[in-house]
Amino acid sequence: MTSQDDLFHPVIELPEPTRRARYDRLIGLDSTKLRLRKEAALLADPRRLQAWAVTHHGGDVAALTLFVDRAPLFVFAGDVGSGKSALAESFGCDLADFLSLPVYLYRLKLATRGSGLVGEMTSLIGDAFTHMHMVGRRVSGPQGARAVQILVVDEADALVQSREAQQMHHEDRAGVDAFLAGIDSLAGAQLPVVVVLCTNRLGALDPAVMRRAAATFTFARPDDAQRHAVLTQALGGLDIRPETVRKVVELTGPTGICPGYTFSDLTQRLVPAAVFRAFPDRPVTDDDLLALAEELEPTPVFIEER
Ligand SMILES: Nc1ncnc2c1ncn2[C@@H]1O[C@H](COP(=O)(O)OP(=O)(O)O)[C@@H](O)[C@H]1O
Ligand SMILES: [Mg+2]
Repeated sequence: MTSQDDLFHPVIELPEPTRRARYDRLIGLDSTKLRLRKEAALLADPRRLQAWAVTHHGGDVAALTLFVDRAPLFVFAGDVGSGKSALAESFGCDLADFLSLPVYLYRLKLATRGSGLVGEMTSLIGDAFTHMHMVGRRVSGPQGARAVQILVVDEADALVQSREAQQMHHEDRAGVDAFLAGIDSLAGAQLPVVVVLCTNRLGALDPAVMRRAAATFTFARPDDAQRHAVLTQALGGLDIRPETVRKVVELTGPTGICPGYTFSDLTQRLVPAAVFRAFPDRPVTDDDLLALAEELEPTPVFIEER
């Protein structure tokens, strides 16, 4: 069996201030955040739903049975730079506060694998789920969960590509099957384990994976108001005029066939580029931002190749 260090990046205990701040800074995801909190809380501690039914409906609620065998899987799909990884790795802070329990964040080391030996992907996935069962059992008991474990499978594009996709090698199919088996083994196991799968390709996602997901969240590029909010946040303290911010919002929006900026185009390219223009000799000016917003190309839209 693969050791924990080979399966996962270092495990992180949440809440933790850096990730908490990152969670709070994510814009336009309020409904996703709320749904995620409720879904994850119920998966982690199903007794909460029973308690709710007793309080508000006197107990006997047929709908409760619908929740019993759900697979603890959330799919985050959508454009690059739209906050999938940021949310997957930070919503545990909110969950920890909501449940008053520690939350442990496990991130599967997937990106470094995949092209290796036949069976490597399969055993990696299998071992990861076995490990989650073990840690899940360790923190669950008759009084309910003492902690929640979140497993994030990021950049899972290759792993969960449709089994029908052509030119797929045997090894990739085995990865999908191993993932499905892992998810099925968690469904109904009553362990406080939640799996989040992130992918840039909604279209190529295996239908069997989609079907199992308790919820699929689609992430998109920011609209005008969201770009305004992100820019206002990112430009704080730089003394940029409000009308300049509005102009940049305009310049970074979609035009005709050209897509608008992604969230990360704003936070990781535009604003840092403005700072680097000015640093170390002078302050950032409104013209820096306007010139860069004209000049930088938004990240191209990911085209599904099928
Ligand atoms: N909804 C958002 N609100 C604010 N900033 C965002 C948002 N989405 C992405 N960002 C910024 O872009 C960066 C990269 O996002 P990330 O979560 O890695 O994107 P993805 O995983 O979807 O490709 C984040 O660290 C953050 O600075
Ligand atoms: Mg990502």
